[in-house]
Order: sequence, then structure tokens, then C-alpha cells
Amino acid sequence: MKTITLINGDGIGPEISDAVVRIIEASGLKINWDVQTAGADVIEKEGTPLPERVLNSIKTNKIALKAPVTTPIGKGFRSVNVQLRKELDLYANLRPCKNLPNVKTRFDNVDIVVVRENTEDLYAGIERQVDENTAESIKIITRKASERIAKFAFDYAVKNGRKEVCVVTKANIMKLSDGLFLECFRNIAKDYPQIVTREILVDNLCMQLVQNPSQFDVLVLPNLYGDIVSDLCAGLIGGLGVAQGANIGVDCAVFEPVHGSAPDIKGQNKANPTALLLSAIEMLRYIDEHKYADRIETALFKTLKSGICTGDLGGMASTSDFANAVIKNL
Ligand code: NAI
Repeated sequence: MKTITLINGDGIGPEISDAVVRIIEASGLKINWDVQTAGADVIEKEGTPLPERVLNSIKTNKIALKAPVTTPIGKGFRSVNVQLRKELDLYANLRPCKNLPNVKTRFDNVDIVVVRENTEDLYAGIERQVDENTAESIKIITRKASERIAKFAFDYAVKNGRKEVCVVTKANIMKLSDGLFLECFRNIAKDYPQIVTREILVDNLCMQLVQNPSQFDVLVLPNLYGDIVSDLCAGLIGGLGVAQGANIGVDCAVFEPVHGSAPDIKGQNKANPTALLLSAIEMLRYIDEHKYADRIETALFKTLKSGICTGDLGGMASTSDFANAVIKNL
């Protein structure tokens, strides 16, 4: 039996992880879940929001399913999510955005894969208060990280039958940092003559995405643009409740939805578990459990087609009702 680390998270995390674990169990796949807590709730007992045991569990099991963890804004501890990605060198953040059955959106032909560099850029967290009225944040872009994320995007495109990879920067303004990211992309692209390449500035990309998203295929971006653009793309396919994600490194992979802990709907049995479920389906494919992944995906699509959905998609189902409906359709 495969052992997988499960981080239940906080906010809506425990509700949606419970739903997803029940669905996977009902599919017939036996998984030994190594449940690990992290975030604000463990600070009091263990003195840190990300104890060593969580990292060790993922290093041992190589795979984790993770629900969202709250990060305090302004003051407080450093993001568990950012720290986890950094500590495990999960350098690629993969966020496929594709229309789902019966989820009404402005465009019905969206099929974009966002590949976000996950370890540096302004997320390196190098900030200082210069004086009372000035704060400074440093943007780090390295050749090593830029080349490996470009390579990841091209390899993904080849493996998944994609035609184009588009690099997104603001290299006209940040000539050195974004310029280096672009240069690395161009170098790596030479090894993939079968893939069409495209270059776009991030502001233009945003405008194009809300007008004609179907023109884009695979996007590769530095960390911050990737974070913002992937939320925009989530909006194109029905919102954060349906946007899946994965953080992939050389040794380990952590599958998690794009959304956060949604404190505004915490504990109300209202959250949409679809984003975490789609992330889990990708996780099952990653560990070659294709039969179960397909079975769960078919049941999810059947449920959505039948009109059962949570409030964020205009439906009436609670988190647990929705999970029960998927289980019935397995
Ligand atoms: P959020 O994604 O938690 O919520 C934004 C809006 O989307 C809210 O109105 C929320 O109710 C709704 N929403 C999100 N997920 C939903 C779901 N599954 N079903 C239905 N509605 C859903 O973003 P916000 O409010 O900016 O962040 C809250 C906390 O989450 C912050 O502490 C943030 O740092 C953290 N966060 C954690 C992430 C992670 O663990 N990977 C990722 C993003 C944010």
C-alpha cells in the first residue's frame, strides 16, 4: 500500500481534505495517509508552523497532498507554503486550467497550463526596512532556476502533446532580472525545435487572457507573475474552487489547489472540494494509479454534468453533499 503525506491545512482545509480522502477511499484505492499538521495551530505546541516532522514525512514518502494553510498578512511567521517549496526545492508550480463540464464561464475553450517558477523572484523574502518611510524587497532571478523551469515547461509540452510554450516577463523594464529569465528561455528553446515559442509582456498577457484565452497553450513565468496570472486563469474556468495545482521538484512532489484557506467560509461546509480533488487526481496519475484517477475524474465530471455543485458555482450542494454525490457516481 502506498504511503502519502496528507497536510490537512486550516480554514476550509480539513473540510475539503475529508471530502477528498473519502472519495479516494470509495474509489477502491487503498492509501496509507501519513497525516501531518502545519500552520498557525501547531506554533504553540511545537514553536514553528512547519515542524521538521512534516518535511521528513514528505522526504520519506516523496508525495504529499496538501490543503491550504493560512499565512498572516504583514507581521507574523513566514508562509508555510513558500517555506515548504523552498526547503524541498519544489521548483515547478504546475497549474493546468481547463474548462470543466457544466461549469459556466465566459469562454468555453480554455486549456492553458501555467508553469510558475517556485523558488525565487520577489518570493525569496529578502526585504528590509530602509528607514521609517522606505521598505525594500529584492527580486532574485538566477540562471540555474530560470533554465530548469524553462526546461520543465518544454518537457511538459513534449510529454503532453502541447504545441506552444510562451514565456512571460516584463523584460522591457526589468532588463537584468526578467532579461535573464528570457535569455535562459531562449537558450533552452533551441533544444526543442518541435515546440513553437512565443514571448509576451505580462501586462499584455493579462489583457489578452481576458479577451481571447484560447490562443494560449503553455505559459512559463517567474514566481510573482505566475502567482497572479494563475489566479486570473482560475477565474477563466470557474474560479478558485476548481483550480488545481502541483509543486514538483527533483525528489518530491506536493499536490495542492491554487486557492487559500478561505477563512470567510471556514467551518460552514460550503467550500468546493473540486480543486483539491483535481489536484489529487493529478497526484494519482503522477504515481501511475491511472485506473483510479480516471474513475474518480469520470465520477466528478458526471456529478458536475448532473448539475450538482457547490455555492461558488451557483449550486446548492454542501461540501459533504458534493463528495457524497461523487462517491455515488464512482
Ligand atoms: P482564498 O483563496 O483563501 O479565498 C479567496 C476567495 O475565494 C474567498 O472568497 C474564498 O471564500 C473563495 N474560495 C477559495 N477557495 C474556495 C473553495 N474551495 N470553495 C469555494 N470558495 C473558495 O484567498 P485569500 O482570502 O487571499 O487567502 C486566505 C489565506 O490563505 C491567506 O492566509 C493566504 O496566505 C492563504 N493562502 C494559502 C495558500 C496555500 O496554502 N497554498 C494559497 C493561497 C493563499
